[in-house]
Amino acid sequence: MSAGTFDLAAWSTERLDRVEQALSRWVPASAPAGLGEAMRYAVLDGGKRLRPLLVMAAAEAVAREADGMALRAQTNGAALRAACAVELIHAYSLVHDDMPSMDNDVLRRGKPTVHVVYGEAMALLAGDALQALAFELLTPDDGTVPAATQATLCRLLARAAGFDGMAGGQAIDLTSVGLALTEAQLSTMHRLKTGALLQGSVMMGLACAEAPPLARDALAAYGAAVGLAFQVVDDILDVTADSVTLGKTAGKDAAHDKPTYVSLLGLAASQAYAQALLAQALAALQASGLHNTDALRALADMVVNRSC
Ligand code: IPE
Ligand code: IPE
Ligand code: MG
Ligand code: MG
Ligand code: MG
Repeated sequence: MSAGTFDLAAWSTERLDRVEQALSRWVPASAPAGLGEAMRYAVLDGGKRLRPLLVMAAAEAVAREADGMALRAQTNGAALRAACAVELIHAYSLVHDDMPSMDNDVLRRGKPTVHVVYGEAMALLAGDALQALAFELLTPDDGTVPAATQATLCRLLARAAGFDGMAGGQAIDLTSVGLALTEAQLSTMHRLKTGALLQGSVMMGLACAEAPPLARDALAAYGAAVGLAFQVVDDILDVTADSVTLGKTAGKDAAHDKPTYVSLLGLAASQAYAQALLAQALAALQASGLHNTDALRALADMVVNRSC
């Protein structure tokens, strides 16, 4: 099927039904003293769920030919856990990103931010608990995910979330306010704070199946291009979209004097750069030797051509 006829909405709905149900089951309302309520508020009912979709699409792309379009039960179970785990890390990163000590935002996913509703201390703890829960999801003790797969998934997620990934990128972001970064510095910041978790999602999907080495390298390149493109477009939308459409406060990067692709290159050049990154991502898919890549193609296109 060509990307032109691939129905991303239908494909996504089917996968996200399972992801939403699993998240609702796994994020515990029962956590003590209101923590569960804050965790569920942060995770459920909102977000594009791009990272879980990348996990699923990558896992399906490398599922063995013999399995056809359907994933083996084991791969499927691991991919669902990986998809939810990466979304929990993402949700935690948003809770902390919005706190007064970071971006000081009051609107997220169309709702008041977690610290506005539950207070700063509870928001901090909700983020902490979501991070821990992500790794708990990756390490079931019921024999459904092989130990080696569990270890690989944990390593990939830890790397993507940690000092050389999201947290490191956020540190650069915080210390770059008001600075004129070079393009290389900005690229590094964006690749770490946002790109790492998106690329990590792709690599976690691969880890759920048995990916040939050529496919692994190609999909790493795909993930890097999509990951950077995602934050370039986030910078663009901060300027071009409104808060209702985004579900978060528009125009805040300039208001906070954050270095962004728009502030460095201007709007038109940033848009052209996002399109160039899309072309890179699609070329990497082409080089992967994989056949079942329609969803990955469509997701890359959505990342770059989205309106929210
Ligand atoms: C927002 O991510 C934060 C960034 C990394 C730029 P998303 O735009 O994926 O947020 P949700 O999950 O859809 O709310
Ligand atoms: C956030 O980047 C990246 C994260 C790791 C959460 P932004 O600060 O630009 O994200 P938004 O615009 O608030 O969603
Ligand atoms: Mg931020
Ligand atoms: Mg922010
Ligand atoms: Mg932003």
